[in-house]
Formats: sequence, C-alpha cells, structure tokens
Amino acid sequence: MEHKEYIAGRICELVDMTKDELMKVMEVPPDSKMGDIAFPCFILAKKMRKAPPMIASELLEKIKDDNAFEKVEAVGGYLNFFFNRKEFIESVMKKVKDSNGEFAKSQEGKGKTVLVEYSSPNIAKPFHIGHLFSTAVGNSLARIYAYLGYDVQRLNHLGDWGTQFGKLISAYKRWGVREVIEKDPINELLKIYVKFHEEAEKEPSLEDEAREYFKSLENGDKETTELWQYFRDVSLKEFKRVYDMLGVSFDSYAGESFYGDKMQEVVDILDEKGLICESDGAKVVMLDELNVPPCIILKSDGATIYATRDIAAALYRKREYDFEKNIYVVGTPQALHFKQIFAVIKKAGFDWADNCTHVGFGLVKFPDKKLSTRHGDVVFLEDVLNESIQKTLDIITNNNPDMENKEEVATKIGIGAILYTFLKNSREKDIVFSWDSMLDFEGESAPYVQYSYARGRSILRRCEIDYSEADFSLATSDEEYELVKQINMFGSAISDAAAKNEPFYINRYVTNLARCFNKFYNNYPILKSDVDDETKKARLALVDATTQVIKSALLLLGIETVESM
Ligand code: ARG
Repeated sequence: MEHKEYIAGRICELVDMTKDELMKVMEVPPDSKMGDIAFPCFILAKKMRKAPPMIASELLEKIKDDNAFEKVEAVGGYLNFFFNRKEFIESVMKKVKDSNGEFAKSQEGKGKTVLVEYSSPNIAKPFHIGHLFSTAVGNSLARIYAYLGYDVQRLNHLGDWGTQFGKLISAYKRWGVREVIEKDPINELLKIYVKFHEEAEKEPSLEDEAREYFKSLENGDKETTELWQYFRDVSLKEFKRVYDMLGVSFDSYAGESFYGDKMQEVVDILDEKGLICESDGAKVVMLDELNVPPCIILKSDGATIYATRDIAAALYRKREYDFEKNIYVVGTPQALHFKQIFAVIKKAGFDWADNCTHVGFGLVKFPDKKLSTRHGDVVFLEDVLNESIQKTLDIITNNNPDMENKEEVATKIGIGAILYTFLKNSREKDIVFSWDSMLDFEGESAPYVQYSYARGRSILRRCEIDYSEADFSLATSDEEYELVKQINMFGSAISDAAAKNEPFYINRYVTNLARCFNKFYNNYPILKSDVDDETKKARLALVDATTQVIKSALLLLGIETVESM
C-alpha cells in the first residue's frame, strides 16, 4: 500500500532504519480518528537512547510540513499520519479511470507460466461436492494469476484410468444396456459398478475377470478401449454441462490415461538413480528421512498406480510448459499423496519439485440435509446448482414480480451464491452448507455484493450529468475516504490471494468494499434534488469506480454481476 511506502520513504531519511524495515513496523490504526498510518517510535528507543514520546515529537518537527499530510500528530510514542484526503482520492480515482475496468491488473507474471490443476473428477463417477470445491478454488486462482499477467494453463487431471475400469467393463458386459445408460450415463454406470461389487462378494472370480479386462485395456485391445472411450465421452459430456453452468473452462483434459505410455520413463529414471527398493514384491521409493511412508511405484503385479501417474504427469508438465508454478487444487485428505510424489521427484534430482504446490481444502458438511438427494446418499452437483437457481428465482419473483430477465439474473446470483460460499473462508476450513446464509441478501453473501453492484449501476443509469471531471474536495467525508481507501486495497488483496493461494482474500476484500459502499450510499444521498451538481459529480465518480472494482473482484472469484436485481 503506497501510504506506508511514502511514509517509510520520508522516515528512513531521518533515522537509522531501512525503508523495508520501517514498512514492516508501521500499523494501520483500528480507528481512522487515529490517523491512516501510525509509526510506533519505541522501535527506535534503544538505538537512539531516547524515550519514544521524545522521538515522536522530534520526528514530528521534521515531517509535519509535508503537503501530502493533512496533519501529523505525536501521541504517546506514536506518530499518527493523516493523509491529505482530497489528493489521495483524486489519485486513486485517476488510477481507476486509467485502468479501463481492470484496476490493479499487473504484468508481474509476464513471460511466466502457472499451471492450475483443478476439478479433476473421475470418469463414470458422480461429480461430487468436493470436486465443486476444487473447481471453485482452482477457477478463482487461475483468474487471479491471469490478472497478474501470468500465462495460466488450466488443467483437468481426469480420473480416467485404473483397475476400476476393468470392473466397469466387466459390469457393463454383464448388465449394461446402452439405451438405459444413454439417458442418465453417470448414474447408470455407477449403478452397474456398485452391482459389480455386490456380485463379486459372492463370486470372487469376477475380480479376476476385471483384472483381465484392465490388462487388455492397458494392452490397447480394440473392444475394451472403445468401451472405455465411450464411458469417458459420456461422462465428460455431463461434466461439461456443469462447467458451462459455472462459467469454468480448461485448456487440457489430459487425465490419468494420458500418462499410460509415459510411466516406463518414471520407473527407468528412478531405477537409474538407485531409488527403487523392493517391498513385498512391489517397487517403492523409501521416504523415511521425511517420516513419510514409502511411495509405491509399481504394485506386485507390475501395475502402476495413481502416484506413478502423477509423477509422470509432473515430468510431462515441466517439459511441456516449463512452469514457474505447478498448483494442484485437491482436497486435504490427499496431502500425504502429494507430499510423497513431490519428495520422489525431488529425490530424483529435479529441484523444480519445490515449485509444485498442493493447495488443499476442507470438507463440505450438510447439517440440514435439506438438499434433494434423488440419487441416494450422494449429493449431485448439478442438483445443488439447480436448487440454488430455483431458490433465487423464488426470492426474486417474490421481491420483484415484474422483473424482465428473471431467469438470467437468478442463474447468475444462484451460481454466484454457491461459488462465494466455497471462497468465503480460508480454504482448509470445512464448509457448512446453509441455504439461508448463502442466499441472505443482507449477510456475508454473493447476493449482498451483487446487490450493491446493481444498486450502484442503477444510480449511474439514472443520473443525467457528466461526471467525468469532478472536484474531489467535495467528497472527503469519513465514509467517502474509507470507501476510496478500500478501493485502493484491491492490489494488495490480489497479491495476498496469490501469495497464499487463498481466494478468500479477494472475497473478504470485495465484501468489505460493498460494505463501505453501502455505508457511503446510505449516508450521502446522490440523486436527490437538494444535492448540488458539483457534489453529485464527485459522488457519482465514486460510485462508478466502486462498481468497476466490485465487478473485477467478483470476476476473480468466477462470480458474475447483474445490472439490476
Ligand atoms: N480424480 C481425483 C479424485 O477425484 C483427483 C485428482 C487430483 N489430481 C491429481 N493430480 N492427483 O480424487
């Protein structure tokens, strides 16, 4: 934030501390009555052999005439800086205006590639709520890195390989009916897959049959490959329907199967480096030094596993994309798996293993069990999305029966409400799913922020004056100043979100921005006739800037705005 930077620049000329050191100790007072930034002088007491209040008043004399400050106060060992509001507001407004709707966008990632792997559901299995969590977080991170100028590659590491496909093929051959499957593919495939397990309990030879089918799949047998391809196609078609609803897209769907012919290389590399040990017939890499169980590379029957495919995928990605960062947005229960594969890669001598990051997230809990579960216990994602849209539509219809594009608005708000819920807290926290708080138009929710945006847009539509030139000395109240300060924080919210791979920084930012906006809006009428035109212009310019930034921030979360609601 440049307030701090400016002050640090001034103070470092006067004392024996560097600008960076100063930046670290400066504070934002809890109440803006105590200034915009405070510098605690006791930091210097030892060095200068003086009492903090003394240091504060000495510094005050040297700095107080600076025009950038409205005033500077020495209070109890603190130096409190009050900025010149008009100048600050003017400079932020200019920056927003010059950014053409992309305030705080940067080029810091130019020329560097970030891979964000997210969603990654399993073929012929339901796309469940955990995959939605991954999709929401990954989609947001991808947008954040793109905003920072990185070349972002969005990867969907589909679970489309493994011994379970032998079972599915066996099940299909026994009980599958294509016409039935066509109507509701994932659900039907799941049904016959479950039946396979039930039957195999009674008739263990089914397991051998499945193993044979998987082997023939691995050997590229035409018929089994065609079946597998069919399962993959119908599943992907369903997944894409959900992605379309969410406004999510991918640059690659190279899933586990893609690495089938790239696994021997992994085994060879690890063998060559002398890392492979035998353990009960399996080939493993020991990771005792990290206090982590060995990573299995080949099972005793010679088959590769999930981990082998992930190692192959990482090697491939490095070669193909030469990434700066390789991010995996996958639930926290898989933390050990990622620890193991990153460690194996590092042991094999690839230092870029340190640029691979597992971005975990918590569980989703359904306390009220009010979700429609037409598929038994599994919560189907599409049902959740549709339910959210329907509930939003009911609310809108109730509030505003004559609204024209109700369905479209309800879709954007209903989907936004869900995405917001996943991005509201630090991602490792579990989520408690509650329709009431998700769709609370006045609470901490997407509809609240979207509504603030729509409110601002409606004022701008109704105003009849040109506010492109405004005098911001007419908009320096506490509420206006707080609003502009909050607008100005967008850049640091983005940096924090990227540094920690935590979209919730953006979420918290935009919610606070909406709150500041509503405070301003509720205190200062804009279009009323007793407000003079010059004041109107300044306020309208604030509204315009705020709506632009809300829109950009929501987009970084994957949430769309509506012009009225
Ligand atoms: N398909 C897996 C699952 O549903 C997630 C894949 C995560 N990505 C990876 N590279 N292992 O649990």
